[in-house]
Amino acid sequence: MKKSKVDLLIGAQWGDEGKGKVVDMMGADVDVFVRYQGGANAGHTVIVNGQKVVFHLLPSGMLYPGKLCIIGNGLVLDPEQFLAENAGLHERGQDRARLVVSPHAHVVMPYHKILDRAQEAARGKGRQIGTTGRGIGPCYVDKYARNGLRVEDLLDPDLLREKLVPLMEEKNQLLTRLYNEKPIPFDEVYEPAREWGKALAPYVDDVVRLLRAAVDAGRHILLEGAQAVLLDVDHGTYPYVTSSSTIAAGAFTGTGLAPCDLTRVIAVVKAYTTRVGEGPMPTEERGEIGELLRRRGGEFGATTGRSRRCGWLDMMGLKYSMELNGVDVLALTKLDVLSGMDRIRICSGYEYDGRRLDRFPTSSRVLEEVVPVYETLPGWKEDISGCTSFESLPDAAQNFVRFIEAQLDVPVKLIGVGPDRAQTIDRGL
Ligand code: IMP
Repeated sequence: MKKSKVDLLIGAQWGDEGKGKVVDMMGADVDVFVRYQGGANAGHTVIVNGQKVVFHLLPSGMLYPGKLCIIGNGLVLDPEQFLAENAGLHERGQDRARLVVSPHAHVVMPYHKILDRAQEAARGKGRQIGTTGRGIGPCYVDKYARNGLRVEDLLDPDLLREKLVPLMEEKNQLLTRLYNEKPIPFDEVYEPAREWGKALAPYVDDVVRLLRAAVDAGRHILLEGAQAVLLDVDHGTYPYVTSSSTIAAGAFTGTGLAPCDLTRVIAVVKAYTTRVGEGPMPTEERGEIGELLRRRGGEFGATTGRSRRCGWLDMMGLKYSMELNGVDVLALTKLDVLSGMDRIRICSGYEYDGRRLDRFPTSSRVLEEVVPVYETLPGWKEDISGCTSFESLPDAAQNFVRFIEAQLDVPVKLIGVGPDRAQTIDRGL
């Protein structure tokens, strides 16, 4: 029997590491692409033949003819976004994969999005999380409170009505009494939801069975994480996190695959750090360097258009990330963005209260106050965007890569030197 290969791809920092490109880069060899957590808060940008496609909800493998693309139970599905993204691909003749949705995926309802924004506003300045406003938090709240609607509930109009009546009564109380919002008329939610059910029905199937069959048939499965480790609801910089399990462990609850199915964990690391939204970010550069990284790296959110906070690479966060995920290999992205700098800084430690910390602190409050300790490496002036092998990179760029490998004790198997699929150095990923 052919042995399956199950790769899990996660972002190692605060998101926007360029996971979409790595997934797409690996795509030709993959049979099944799976998204298993998060929702339309993600923005995975894929550039093929100069054409840019941004996926928020659909797996990045959608551009590959004949592949199986799966939305697992752990993802929260916004039906409007799902249908719009799918229709967009269809219109452009790019819906080439077979798409399947788990009946157990929870549905992001219109009231979740309104609540997300209302709750953010109510938190007030200083307490805001800076959410994407896509209803992610409120939808996961309902899931765990056992008040959620799952994709399967949309498929039966009578059941949907039965479940939605009390839910909407509760949401309208919340909206009107607590947040001073207008109540939402029942039919404004129910009627579209029925239509979503009809439109979604052809995609719904037993994902656990399909994945088990894929493993048994020796297929190559790619589990495509969204957001990133430091935004994990348990292990990230709480409360400045997203509401799902972004670490490797989330892939099992989010799909029904078993830990022993996993072959490799691939972590995507950007050559510097970015963060969108609020929360501690020790290496943030608020001046010229931050601006330079933002401009050169095009660091503006694919989902919200917000400008990303930028700063140097942070080994403390990355070491923590390696521990939490048992990372086997690294994909280093956007190395070209650092070209032209005289010196490159890498944070290799934190100081807090006059002491050197030997680990990423458990408390977000402490993380807010740490002072990064930097090592300085020589930069390189050359344009590396045309480099196709590790050896063709300037010495200083090679050293930068080796420095990361040595610090994290994980090999860098892929290096991104430009946005296009072709601008990638593959060291045997
Ligand atoms: P939420 O996921 O919309 O609830 O937002 C919670 C936090 O996660 C905010 O700081 C967002 O900016 C951040 N976030 C959510 N999705 C992404 C992403 O795909 N990339 C980067 N940050 C994200």
